[in-house]
Parts: sequence; structure tokens; C-alpha cells
Amino acid sequence: MSDQLKRLAAEAAASAELRSGMKLGLGTGSTAKHFVDIVGERIRAGETYLCVPTSEATRRQAESLGIPLTSLDEAGELDLTVDGADEFDPGLNLIKGGGGAHLREKMVAANSRRMIVIADASKRVARLGAFPLPLEITPFAQGTTVRAVARVFAEAGIRAEIRQRHRPDGSPYISDNGNLIFDVANDGIADPASLADRLDRIPGLVEHGLFVGLCFAVYLGAEEGVAVIGKKT
Ligand code: 5RP
Repeated sequence: MSDQLKRLAAEAAASAELRSGMKLGLGTGSTAKHFVDIVGERIRAGETYLCVPTSEATRRQAESLGIPLTSLDEAGELDLTVDGADEFDPGLNLIKGGGGAHLREKMVAANSRRMIVIADASKRVARLGAFPLPLEITPFAQGTTVRAVARVFAEAGIRAEIRQRHRPDGSPYISDNGNLIFDVANDGIADPASLADRLDRIPGLVEHGLFVGLCFAVYLGAEEGVAVIGKKT
């Protein structure tokens, strides 16, 4: 059921936003996967796209579909990135990184003329934070970095519990960039921009999953159809 709504959101975003010839950022996760499938279908139908994947998993999917890929360095500014999210709030602030790919996802989104999120209604929240905030942290001095993160949450007045992410076999989760992932369970992020700003200043915290001012619109798949939230033009 939910997977059907993800596909519906991806189809609506594709028909409204995709134009043959675009340079695209391809997101990561079970929702973004549908959009990558659609780009593959469009290419088989004769359209052309040059794409930058946001993870090794998405790279593998895109390669299997024959989607032409390049690097962000080669592509320069992208026309459009379409990605999923773990949460979005009324200001279109996001939590991302449930798949541990938020560093590349943020770099790609920040270098795109517009970033579109595709989601089902379970991702819509009044306030971010029910989904634990993902952090990508260097293995070097990880304890020092985690302590700095704990201080930032305490100073912001947010109750936080920071846990390292592991694989199902118990080994540490290692990102595509060779770093560790931690998740911050918390009691709600009232001011995402201010928290993001403080987290941005911690050396060793390579990237956090708060996306502030990056998302242009959300295509929300629902039983009644797809709603577009927040689009300005
Ligand atoms: C990966 C992400 C994903 O976009 C996010 O976790 C949503 O995934 P899904 O569509 O599977 O719910 O940020 O790092």
C-alpha cells in the first residue's frame, strides 16, 4: 500500500518536473528508488538524462537500468534532484539519512537548482524529531565528537540520546564515505535552522541529516491523489 503511494508520488514528480536533457541528482531509499526506475523507463523511451547518484546503492540501481552517470564534479550545477526524506515539516525542513546517505544527498541537493522530495503521508510532521537525527562522524576521535554533539543538544534545551548505528550482524554501520553513523533520539527540534547551524560547527561531525532551506517542494502520495506542498512557482 505505502509502496504504491511512493510510486504515485514519484510518477507525479516525474511528469511535472522531468524534461529530457536535464542533469539530475538521484536520491537514495525505497521512495527515491521508484523515481530512478522512472528515469530508466524514460531513457528506454528515448529521452536523455545525465545523472549523479547520491549513494553506491543508487549507483548500482542506475547502472542496472542503463542510466548514464557522471560525478558531481563533472556535472557542475544540476537541474533537479529528487529524493525521499525521513520527515518534513511545514517549512519544508527535512530529516534525512535513514539510509546513511545524507552527506552525499546534501551535497547533491545543495548543487541542484531545485530539490524535490517525494514521500507518503507518514513522513509529514508538525515538528521534526520523532525520527532520530542521523549523523555521519569520522572514526577518528568519535567519542570527542559525540560529546560535542551532546553538548549542542543540551545547550539547545533538547533531550537527546545518541546511539551508534549498527548493521544487523552487529558490526558498525560504515557509510559510503568510510565514516560512522550515529542517530540522535530526541524530544523534538523546535528550531531546525539554529540546531543545524550549531551542529555545522563541530569538527569531526562530517554531516548531519537536517536539511534546511534546500527542499523546494514535496510531492506527497496519498489515497486521494498526490498533493504538491510548498512549491513557489
Ligand atoms: C537516505 C535517506 C532517505 O531518503 C530516507 O531515509 C527515506 O527513505 P525511504 O524512502 O526508504 O523511506 O535520507 O539516506
